[in-house]
Amino acid sequence: MIKAGDLVILYDGRTKFLVKVGSDKFHGNHGYIEHKQLVGKEFGEEIRTHLGYSFVILSPVLEDLTMKVKRESQIVYPKDIGIILVKSGIFPGAKVVEVGTGSGSLTIALANFVRPNGKVITYEKRKDFAEIARGNLGKAGLEKFVQIKNQEVNRKIKEKNIDFVMLDLPNPWDIISHVRDSLKEGRRICCLLPTIDQVMEAVFYLEENGFTAIETVEIWMREILVRKGKTRPEQNMPSHTAYLIFGTKIK
Ligand SMILES: C[S@@+](CC[C@H](N)C(=O)[O-])C[C@H]1O[C@@H](n2cnc3c(N)ncnc32)[C@H](O)[C@@H]1O
Repeated sequence: MIKAGDLVILYDGRTKFLVKVGSDKFHGNHGYIEHKQLVGKEFGEEIRTHLGYSFVILSPVLEDLTMKVKRESQIVYPKDIGIILVKSGIFPGAKVVEVGTGSGSLTIALANFVRPNGKVITYEKRKDFAEIARGNLGKAGLEKFVQIKNQEVNRKIKEKNIDFVMLDLPNPWDIISHVRDSLKEGRRICCLLPTIDQVMEAVFYLEENGFTAIETVEIWMREILVRKGKTRPEQNMPSHTAYLIFGTKIK
């Protein structure tokens, strides 16, 4: 049963809206729904605006939580988050260092996987982004599994025994030496980069600085439009987002 403080998705068959149930009103193009009308309902139930427009109440999945953040920076897309999670080696209880919190979209996914005993320590040099990320993590209910450090990583960080390092910034080769000692041997690092030129620089740096099993991937995701007698791929698909480089630290 839905209660105050829960996150819900309102879905009208086309668009999903993420709503945190409080004391407010949800305003759509076809009228409003008072949040208190959601309390006591079950997921899967229908709810109507004051003008009679129909929504179904859905339970948000991780994709909704990461995509529907307030964002000022480029976020990491679910297709890329998926491969990061399976290749990172993280687990409930893991300690993760992330550099480049941005809006905290990826931080939400990492925090979701290390909870309840793990922690994501995430560095963001811009105060405004750190605050946006804090708000997004709070809305997702994951803030207690994250420590946001509003600091630029430009020297060795003090964290130790880290299980995974995630670098989402344009020049990872400049800071790998600052985070390398924090990562446990045999554990993984990931760099997310938009261009091939950056990929080459990062891969050569990793190869020369004590990382093995280096692999670089790009993920394509194409939706399929399913209609009787004319099922085919959607014409539009997200164009290039990023390349992902994974490496494992050796002694
Ligand atoms: C593309 S954004 C990260 C987006 C984020 N992964 C998300 O999903 O919302 C890159 C961020 O890295 C931050 N940044 C760049 N260099 C940094 C450094 N050396 N230390 C800390 N933050 C840094 C930038 O301010 C920017 O917010």
